Amino acid sequence: MSTLSSEITAGFDVERVREDFPVLKQTVHGKPLVYLDSAATAQKPSCVVDAIRHFHEVDCANIHRGVHELSQRSTAAYEETRIKVKKFLNARSTQELIFVRGTTEGVNLVSSSWGRHNVKAGDEIVISAMEHHSNIVPWQMLCEETGAVLRVIPMNDRGELILEEYEKLLGPRTRMVAVAHVSNALGTINPVGQIIEMAHNAGALALIDGAQSAPHIHVDVQALDCDFYAFSGHKVCGPTGIGILFGKTELLNAMPPYQGGGDMIRTVTFAKTTYADLPYKFEAGTPNIAGGIGLGAALDYMTAIGLDKIAAYEHELLVYGTEKLLQIPGLRLIGTAREKAAVLSFVMEGIHPHDIGTVLDREGIAVRTGHHCAQPVMDWFNVPATTRASLAFYNTVGEIDALADGLRIVKEVFS
Ligand SMILES: Cc1ncc(COP(=O)(O)O)c(C=O)c1O
Repeated sequence: MSTLSSEITAGFDVERVREDFPVLKQTVHGKPLVYLDSAATAQKPSCVVDAIRHFHEVDCANIHRGVHELSQRSTAAYEETRIKVKKFLNARSTQELIFVRGTTEGVNLVSSSWGRHNVKAGDEIVISAMEHHSNIVPWQMLCEETGAVLRVIPMNDRGELILEEYEKLLGPRTRMVAVAHVSNALGTINPVGQIIEMAHNAGALALIDGAQSAPHIHVDVQALDCDFYAFSGHKVCGPTGIGILFGKTELLNAMPPYQGGGDMIRTVTFAKTTYADLPYKFEAGTPNIAGGIGLGAALDYMTAIGLDKIAAYEHELLVYGTEKLLQIPGLRLIGTAREKAAVLSFVMEGIHPHDIGTVLDREGIAVRTGHHCAQPVMDWFNVPATTRASLAFYNTVGEIDALADGLRIVKEVFS
C-alpha cells in the first residue's frame, strides 16, 4: 500500500463500516465483489434491512387510519422518519417534507402542481446542461403544455457551469431555476448557494435535485435557502421507492394537490372535497410504509457515521482514484471539475464502454456504462457513453487498485 492509501485508511475505519454491509462480502465470477455503482443505488446496511423486516414481522398495518395497536405503531415509526428527515436537511418543520417515490417524483410533483398554476406561455424555466433526465423531461413537458421556454445553463470543458452565462439567462420571465446539486454523470458539485441567490434576485424560485448530494454532502435547506429540494432514499443507503421532497411551507400551501385519493383529504362529498393540511395534502393513497421506515434507519446510520466524515473520506478516495486512473494510457476522464464528488467517469481510446463494463464484471467489478440518464452531457462531450465508477464511504483504496488492475486487463483484451 502506498503512503497515500495508508493515510486514507488511517482517517476512517472502512473495514468496520464494511461489516455493516453483508452484500459486500460476496464473490462475483469467483472474484471478491468490488461495488463501484453507488451513484445508481447505494448498498444497504443491516440496520436498514432489519428495520424493514421488523415492520413486516411485528408492526405491519396501514398508517394514519387505525386506532388499533399495530396501526399506531406503524404510524409512529413512519412519521418518526419525517422527524429524522427534518433534522437531516435542517428543515423548519415536518410540514415541509413530503414523502414521494424518489427524486423523479419530487421534481414531477413540483413541475405539475406548482408549474401548471404558475407558469404561462412565454415564461422561462432554467435548467443546466448537466441535468439527469428526471430534471429535464418534467420541465420540457410543462413547457410543451404551457408554451413556456426552457433555457439551459452551459458548462465548460471541465464540466463546470458557466455562471456568467447563467446570469445572462435570468430575466423578468424566469419563473424557476432547477439544477442538480451534484452531477451523476460528471461528479461536479455545483455552487448551488450562489445559483439559488441569483435565481431569487431575478424573482425566480429554485429547485435543487439532491439525488447525488444527500448521500455525500451535509445539506442544510435553510442555509441554502432553496425553495424545493428532492432526494431519493435508495441513494442514501435506504430502500427503493421512497424519497423526500422538501418545499417551503408558503409555497406548498399555495399549491394544489398533486394526486387525489385517500389520506390527502379533510372532507369528501360528491359536491366538494376539502384537502388535508401539509404535508398530507400531497400524500394520496397508502404510501411505501416499509420504505419510509427503512429510510429512517438509513438516515440514522448515515448521521451516526457523520456526513462530514463521509465527504472527507470519499474525497480522499476520489483524489487517489483520479491519480490511479490517469496513469492508464489512453484513458480520458469526463468531468474534471475543481469541486467534485466521488464519481470517476471516463472513456478509453478505441474501446466501447460496454466492453469495458463487461470485462470488469468478469473481474467482479461493478461499474455503470452508458449515458447515465444524462444524454445531453454525452452529446456535449461528444462521446456515446462513458464508464462510470461511483464511490461510497464503504469503498476502499484496495478496490480502486482492483479497478485500475481491471482496466489494464481491459486494455490487454482489446489491444
Ligand atoms: C442527479 C440525479 N437526479 C435524479 C435522479 C433520479 O433519481 P430516482 O431514479 O431515484 O428518482 C438520479 C438518479 O440516478 C440522479 O443521479
